[in-house]
Parts: sequence; structure tokens; C-alpha cells
Amino acid sequence: MLTPPYLINEHYNDRYFDVVNAIEEAKHIYFEGTCIIDMLKKRSGLSIGETGFGAGRMLISLMDYLDDSGMTDLAINYNSAELHPISSERMASILEGFIEPVGHLIDQLVRAYGSIDTTKSGWHQIQLTRPFGTITLNLYIGEALEMVNALATRCDAWFLDGHGPKKNPDIWRPELLMAIGEKTSSGGTCATFTVAGAVRRGLASAGFSVEQVPGFGGKKAVLKGVKI
Ligand SMILES: C[S@@+](CC[C@H](N)C(=O)[O-])C[C@H]1O[C@@H](n2cnc3c(N)ncnc32)[C@H](O)[C@@H]1O
Repeated sequence: MLTPPYLINEHYNDRYFDVVNAIEEAKHIYFEGTCIIDMLKKRSGLSIGETGFGAGRMLISLMDYLDDSGMTDLAINYNSAELHPISSERMASILEGFIEPVGHLIDQLVRAYGSIDTTKSGWHQIQLTRPFGTITLNLYIGEALEMVNALATRCDAWFLDGHGPKKNPDIWRPELLMAIGEKTSSGGTCATFTVAGAVRRGLASAGFSVEQVPGFGGKKAVLKGVKI
């Protein structure tokens, strides 16, 4: 089956995500992989970092996951970078396949994202209120390394999702992974869909103890790491 053109990021000739099971995949690989629920059992606030905001599928999935957790009064700081921001109309088209399960979340994000002037580089902030609490999206329009360097505080969990290393080696370069390691709290975590050797080695050099674990959907294995 051909992938509709709006699902392909033309800058990398790659899909924003695997459409089948994309929401479940985010939960398995990224949210379980980074143990965020365990962290939230100990404190109500969490700082998350993401490389590659794309169409916001990860953020939608996170809101759904936390809504389902039954937790309340959480304050989530979600820091993400996007070098090639898309319009809110395109975001809506890309996320259209998930209208059935999470249409209310898509509407909320698309509306809020539409208020951001993505032609302006640097930080933009929007707040989303949910049954679990609030999520503050700090979206950096620009290069991921600039975003990581501009972070005032360390993140507790990182979602590394910037296209595969073959299509986009830049987002896996050692300099960026080192910066991510420096901006991770002790005991903080990371997760990614790729098990490429260069990524494993880069994360290990950045101070993460990396483990290959069973994947989900089309992915046989994925990576998770803990900052030691
Ligand atoms: C696979 S997509 C992200 C999908 C997104 N996490 C989601 O779930 O919708 C990767 C994104 O990273 C962005 N990107 C690639 N290289 C980047 C860089 N060096 N800095 C910031 N963003 C980058 C791409 O433009 C693309 O939108």
C-alpha cells in the first residue's frame, strides 16, 4: 500500500511514524521504556525531552496514556524540538487516522498548536489541561542541539524519535547525544525505536546504561537507557 504524501516528511523522505499501532507503539516503546509511571508514583512533576516533535503523535499518545493512568494533579513539562515545523492543517491530516480513539486530544493539540507562530525560531509555549493535570509544551523551533543546550533544567525522560539514523544521521550525532546525557537527571531514562550500533554506542558514551528490549508492532527490538 502506498503511503499518502502528507505522512512523509519530505526533508528526510521518511514517514513521521508507522501509522499502524502508532499510539500503542508510543506507549510501549517510549512511555513504558522510560518508566514514567514509576517516576510519577514518587512525585507529581516530570520534565520530558523529545527530539523531533513532528506531528505531535507522541504528545497525543502521552496525554491518552496519562488520562488512562487515573493519576491526577500532575504537572508535566514537555520539551521538544522541531527543525521543519508543519502547519496545523497538515498536523490534523497526519493525525486523522487516530480520530476514532483520540479525536478529542487531536482537536485540543491542533487548536493550541495553531496559535504558535512557527515561522519564529526559538521557544514557544502552550498549556494543555487534562484530567491528569497539566502538560506544558515547550516547543523549540530549530535544531535539536540548540534546544538541548537552551534547556534550563535537566529532563527525567527522553523520547528519541527523529527518523532513523540512515535517513537522518544528524539527530543521532555524538555531540547531540552527549548534550542529551548532560541534560538528563541522575536515574533519568531514554528510549528509542532504533537499535543501531552507532546509537547504542552514542548513548553509552553519553552516560546511559543501554539495554535492547523486545519491540512492538513491526519492530523486533528497541532500546531503553538509564543515566548512571
Ligand atoms: C519521526 S518524526 C517525529 C515524529 C514525532 N515524534 C511524532 O510522534 O509525531 C522526526 C521529526 O524530527 C524532525 N527533525 C529531524 N532532524 C531534526 C533536528 N536536527 N532538529 C530538530 N528536529 C529535527 C523532523 O523534521 C521530524 O518532524
